[in-house]
Amino acid sequence: MATSLPAGAQIGIIGGGQLGRLTALEARRLGYRTCVLDPDPRSPGAQVADERVVGSLEDADAVRALARRVQVLTYEFENIHAGAAEVAEALVPMHPSSSVLRIAQHRVREKEALARLGFPVPRFAALGARDELGGALGRLGFPLVMKTAVAGYDGRGQAVVRGPEEAERAFESLHDRSDTLILEEFVDFAMELSVICARGVDGQVACFPVVENRHRNAILDVTLAPAEVPAAVSSRARQMAAGIAEALGVVGLLAVEMFLTRQGQLIVNELAPRPHNSGHYTLDACCVSQFEQLVRAVCRLPLGATDACGPAAMANLLGDLWPEGGQPDFAGALAVPGVRLYLYGKAQARPGRKMGHLTCVADSTSAALARVLEARSRLERPATR
Ligand SMILES: Nc1ncnc2c1ncn2[C@@H]1O[C@H](COP(=O)(O)OP(=O)(O)O)[C@@H](O)[C@H]1O
Ligand SMILES: [Mg+2]
Repeated sequence: MATSLPAGAQIGIIGGGQLGRLTALEARRLGYRTCVLDPDPRSPGAQVADERVVGSLEDADAVRALARRVQVLTYEFENIHAGAAEVAEALVPMHPSSSVLRIAQHRVREKEALARLGFPVPRFAALGARDELGGALGRLGFPLVMKTAVAGYDGRGQAVVRGPEEAERAFESLHDRSDTLILEEFVDFAMELSVICARGVDGQVACFPVVENRHRNAILDVTLAPAEVPAAVSSRARQMAAGIAEALGVVGLLAVEMFLTRQGQLIVNELAPRPHNSGHYTLDACCVSQFEQLVRAVCRLPLGATDACGPAAMANLLGDLWPEGGQPDFAGALAVPGVRLYLYGKAQARPGRKMGHLTCVADSTSAALARVLEARSRLERPATR
């Protein structure tokens, strides 16, 4: 194994959202320093980092300025200028590499790469211009999901399409956000799963348990860990995630979102080469969290054990829970036994914006879920304390 970065070395994190914040906190615990690049000097990540570079993730000069101040780079968000990432990578190692980023930041490239490597994906068609729409609809049939190839996240930049008129309308509303769109068959899934896989520079691979993700308005709502699926399904899901991480040569983390169909088939939905919302529970329930695992991988330390100490659940807290001009009843939520609260330090609550999350480890996933949901419902009561 290559020599690991010494304690006190500085890690550059591109993006200052909650994923960057939680990574920076774990890095600090392991004795590393962090420098966060984000346009907002008070971003969740910037608040806890040792140093900040204030600038756009689209700006090659800003990414270069970050690279010059650190020994290694990683990112917490895919929508980085790929050219800027390549420039930075020429100065200092970046994990996962810019070639992984190029694939994962573009839904068409991602699906084509997966299909080429033999991993199952929904039937899809790339859409560059309106006159290609008719042909693609003819080949795929309905229902479909239309998505922007780039810059979509948390359900933004996508629409379910049930007929030709809806397809026209969706094209109208999405095409100016992205040069290319993608049409995918709508998968009538039984469950959504994800696996977060870590891979070291030496090729060591460690997968976290397979979890179930339930979405609301295409935004992750709750995660149940582990997913209640047959052992054969969970081992296939882990093998698939590890296989993709190996085939792409990922160093760091790769989250693989999958659909489990009613026939028991696993289909890959999307890849995220970074910490993932569905892995937040690992901070409370696993020997080593996804964030620590990322720090270990990029600093060339051995990967840690991913075993969970018990069943767990995570519930996201969106800005919708924040009353106008006030705060949710955090004390009320924390009165639920076993529930832990993470707030990301975002000043502005907006509908659909991820502000924090709740986790609980309990005797069963259903008990853990019941507790985080109880805690979340208490948040909605007006604070009286
Ligand atoms: N092809 C599809 N079939 C069925 N549901 C889908 C499909 N694509 C996306 N979805 C739903 O929308 C959610 C968000 O879509 P996703 O492609 O993962 O984008 P995002 O980057 O916003 O997470 C998915 O988790 C799933 O619930
Ligand atoms: Mg997704």
